[in-house]
Amino acid sequence: MIRSMIKSTGRYLPENKVTNQNLAELMDTTDEWIVQRTGIESRYWVKEGDDIGTSDLAYEAAKIALERAGWDPNELDLIVIATMTPDVNVPGSGVFLQDKLGAKNVPALDIRQQCTGFLYGLEICDAYIKSEKAKKILLVGAEYQSRYLEVNTEYRDTAVIFADGAGASCIEAIETDDDAGFITSIMHSDGKYSQALRAGLPARKSGYAIDPTVIENKEHFPFMDGKTVYKLAVTRLPRITEELLEKANMSIDDIDLFIPHQANLRINEAFRERMKIPKEKIYNNIERYGNTTAATIPIALDELLENKIVKNGDTIMFFGLGAGLNWGGVIYKMI
Ligand code: UT7
Repeated sequence: MIRSMIKSTGRYLPENKVTNQNLAELMDTTDEWIVQRTGIESRYWVKEGDDIGTSDLAYEAAKIALERAGWDPNELDLIVIATMTPDVNVPGSGVFLQDKLGAKNVPALDIRQQCTGFLYGLEICDAYIKSEKAKKILLVGAEYQSRYLEVNTEYRDTAVIFADGAGASCIEAIETDDDAGFITSIMHSDGKYSQALRAGLPARKSGYAIDPTVIENKEHFPFMDGKTVYKLAVTRLPRITEELLEKANMSIDDIDLFIPHQANLRINEAFRERMKIPKEKIYNNIERYGNTTAATIPIALDELLENKIVKNGDTIMFFGLGAGLNWGGVIYKMI
């Protein structure tokens, strides 16, 4: 039977570390507020003035993953990039990444699923592999969000949360009779909540492609109705977990490690308490990286593999919720 296996991973964070104290010098906020409400202590932002785009962050993470897999970029059957902060509006960041890698004529696909981008990406890669359309896929989640942020008191709710970074995985088709690798996934979307987390640049519904009123009304900066998104997360993440476990015919004890999207430590703690999961069975790193949207899960996975926190035979669950509204989860057994 053909299964999808994560063969290797890589991550890249820009060098410029931004602490809560640094932000407190730029707006009315405190380290205490940020730590208490989000769990974040520091994050990485591309240094102002650095002439790079999201695909450069993706490239650095991808290089590591490809090297660890021992793959030449030209061997790839597909490149998938999940980002909500593409280098430019058109074309997608996938082709920039493909060009930087020198992966000649390899198809490059962008997906725009925000916080669940990597999860949707995993599901897409598995579908390509199971349908025998691809054997070797590079999947990257990358964000350069700091360039979209308004760093002032008015926008302090988003400014303190969002961050830059990239995580990459090489996903390979393998033949095995074992129930291993990608086990199952469920994705959901609910456009009714599309206004709860949004950014308006550059398109609009009518008139000029770039309407000055979008800028005047500051619709180009991310807007987040944090309370609504928070409430949706703490109710829907437990539900998706139950759906996934039922689909996989597993119980919660069969999962060795939960790897949630890193949006807010309080969301992940509320999830853990609701599901009665011991602390050591859930992985968080938001304190060091902030919310890197499509990159949170692949960055976490890379850390877990590097530090040998997950090992062969472990069953893990990736899950998350974010702008869209999109939410979903993947169960994966390490091989
Ligand atoms: O990955 C994408 C998906 N996004 C999420 O999952 C985000 C979900 N939501 C959240 O994480 C939280 O709602 C936030 C962290 C964004 C906000 O936390 P909160 O506990 O919901 O705070 P709040 O919005 O209710 O604001 C409470 C107070 C307000 O002041 P007043 O009106 O009570 O005087 C805010 O103006 O905290 C104020 N506030 C801040 N104060 C200091 C908001 N942001 C800040 C800040 N520093 N950075």
